[in-house]
Amino acid sequence: MWFFGSKGASGFSSRSTAEEVTHGVDGTGLTAIVTGASSGIGVETARVLALRGVHVVMAVRNTASGAKVKEDIVNKVPGAKVDVMELDLSSMDSVKKFASDYKSSGLPLNLLINNAGIMACPFKLSKDNIELQFVTNHLGHFLLTKLLLDTMKNTSRESKREGRIVNVSSEAHRYSYPEGVRLGKNKINDELSYSSFRAYGQSKLCNILHANELAKQLKEDGANITANSLHPGAIMTNLWCHFNSYLAVAAGAVAKYMFKTVPQGAATTCYVALHPQVAGVTGEYFLDNNIAKPLPIANDYELAKKLWDFSNKLTDSQSGGT
Ligand SMILES: NC(=O)c1ccc[n+]([C@@H]2O[C@H](COP(=O)([O-])OP(=O)(O)OC[C@H]3O[C@@H](n4cnc5c(N)ncnc54)[C@H](OP(=O)(O)O)[C@@H]3O)[C@@H](O)[C@H]2O)c1
Repeated sequence: MWFFGSKGASGFSSRSTAEEVTHGVDGTGLTAIVTGASSGIGVETARVLALRGVHVVMAVRNTASGAKVKEDIVNKVPGAKVDVMELDLSSMDSVKKFASDYKSSGLPLNLLINNAGIMACPFKLSKDNIELQFVTNHLGHFLLTKLLLDTMKNTSRESKREGRIVNVSSEAHRYSYPEGVRLGKNKINDELSYSSFRAYGQSKLCNILHANELAKQLKEDGANITANSLHPGAIMTNLWCHFNSYLAVAAGAVAKYMFKTVPQGAATTCYVALHPQVAGVTGEYFLDNNIAKPLPIANDYELAKKLWDFSNKLTDSQSGGT
């Protein structure tokens, strides 16, 4: 019987920390992009990857807070290789600029950690007129991955090391809209039927579908790159800022028992990104540092392909295509 903290097949559990799941793993020579590395589990992910020798590029929308996090990591991890670059996932122009600047830097790319996110915010359209949670959590990462895929393929070929794409999803994918994903710009942007939590669930379902479709295409291409998704656990971070105070108090009361600490919250990401046990594993969903089963709709390959085409159409229609 499962209980909080019981070990799975990997030998790790919900209580394992990012340092524990990467103990003894050498990340020297690898380069990673971590989106949303200015707060919450992204900070710890960046720190622990740097601790294991990975060159970490923090992709953040607020470079001033990114610089502070970088300073802290470099102070804690002597010799850490960390850079900060600006990326606003809610703006297609910003994603394109980031990808173009990254390519111009000539850096290789082994690991792409699509971690940034927002949760349950009131209805808002992005600069490009797309519902904010869908664009920040899914579409921005979709475009980022698309634009950096050639760099990842070149790196994996030249370095002869497996590339890994890691989408940080959520168990909230179970609570999307009844139709799963609203395929259609008018449907995505329908304010009248907008539910802040279902829209979050929808975007997190998209993270899994995106990783699955990527995994399928990369396999067909024969690329030495895997794509997986995961639920990091429930962790008290800034992500919860849109929840009302009653819920926050209730969550606080159970936090000690059900919530993870930030070092535990970053563990599954670091495990999937670095651990040798995960070599060659692709198109899987992880939870508590082990392979888990998402909702069946998350493994619907037809829906994944439809979402892929819809996302391509949306990103291509912004400022004259990509
Ligand atoms: N915490 C949980 O309980 C939980 C549970 C399940 C899944 N997750 C997932 O875990 C991931 C990390 O969440 P967290 O808990 O660490 O939350 P967090 O502390 O709020 O961190 C989220 C990060 O995303 C960044 N971000 C937000 N909007 C962005 C944008 N438009 N462009 C670029 N970056 C943006 C934030 O930047 P700023 O610092 O500038 O705001 C921040 O660095 C998310 O994908 C979330 O859905 C978290």
